[in-house]
Amino acid sequence: MREQLEQIRLQALAEMQEAADIVALDAVRVRVLGKKGELTAVLKQMGKLSAEERPVMGQVANAVRAELETKLEERKTELEAAALLEQLALEAVDVTVPGKEVRMGHQHPMNKVLQEVKEIFIGMGYQIVDGPEIEEASYNFTRLNIEEGHPSRDRSDTFYFNDDDSVLLRTQTSPIQIRVMENQKPPIRILAPGRVFRKDEADATHSPMFHQIEGLVVDEGITMGDLKGALETMIKRLYGEDAVVRFRPHHFPFTEPSCEVDMQCFKCGGKGEIDGQVCPTCHGEGWIELLGAGMVHPKVLEGCGIDSTKYSGFAFGIGLERMAMGRLKINDLRLIFENDVRFLSQF
Ligand code: PHE
Repeated sequence: MREQLEQIRLQALAEMQEAADIVALDAVRVRVLGKKGELTAVLKQMGKLSAEERPVMGQVANAVRAELETKLEERKTELEAAALLEQLALEAVDVTVPGKEVRMGHQHPMNKVLQEVKEIFIGMGYQIVDGPEIEEASYNFTRLNIEEGHPSRDRSDTFYFNDDDSVLLRTQTSPIQIRVMENQKPPIRILAPGRVFRKDEADATHSPMFHQIEGLVVDEGITMGDLKGALETMIKRLYGEDAVVRFRPHHFPFTEPSCEVDMQCFKCGGKGEIDGQVCPTCHGEGWIELLGAGMVHPKVLEGCGIDSTKYSGFAFGIGLERMAMGRLKINDLRLIFENDVRFLSQF
């Protein structure tokens, strides 16, 4: 039995030393020290020994068990440390490698112009409001005095959602006028920027999605003079004191009288041509249309429960892209939407 124990001891010590990882080490433990292990099997035979031999062998067996258990712990610590080192080597990070440069972006140029316009109007006491892009036809057309059959309601111009043409992508920001007036009593002074949608072919000056900035002022005694004053102030703040603008009579169903406001073409200086060629920016007009405006139609006021004998107002709708083109001196609208960083980073 003594030899048996000595053999188990030597073999187990050798195998533990050779074990390449924790799993192999554990296999040795189970085989030797486990409940059905070799050492346990020897101990079970103790009963066959004489009364003098038993305590002696018991001591030897316990010493072997203790030695193997100590060795096991030692090897386990060694193997764990080795595994940790290997893992660390694998996940090593070279902190001296130069980092990737993060490029700082900036606001889109059109947003910058929008911000400028907003600040100008906030300075004149306007409040910024918002309205839905998916709009009801009654707000987009009917309550703005645009009757059934009006060309702007045509399916070829407007994105409708349903067969009865009652829900659409707003074609203008003017429905916000109605939404404000039905909820708010005068005095009203609001500015409402947003996206609008029309089935336009994309070319240098058109896109199926573009931005407008709606303005609405309603109070007692508001006149066309107030309208001109507000818009001239905005244009001169934006383009400089020497900007040349003109107010031209026009027609909108929801304003009366109505006008359009143009600025002199920044590309050709109003001549309509450059070196004998038709100016590509204003198409030879000499002027660039910036916005539509007018005095709020009494029918529109009354439709929102506002007494048109007591109150009057003006409204305007600015084409933000046109405005930005003039402000930034770019002559192709598509540049604004293409998001080419080579273009955007110039502003
Ligand atoms: N909504 C008009 C358009 O899209 C512009 C406008 C707004 C005209 C407000 C008058 C008053 O052309």
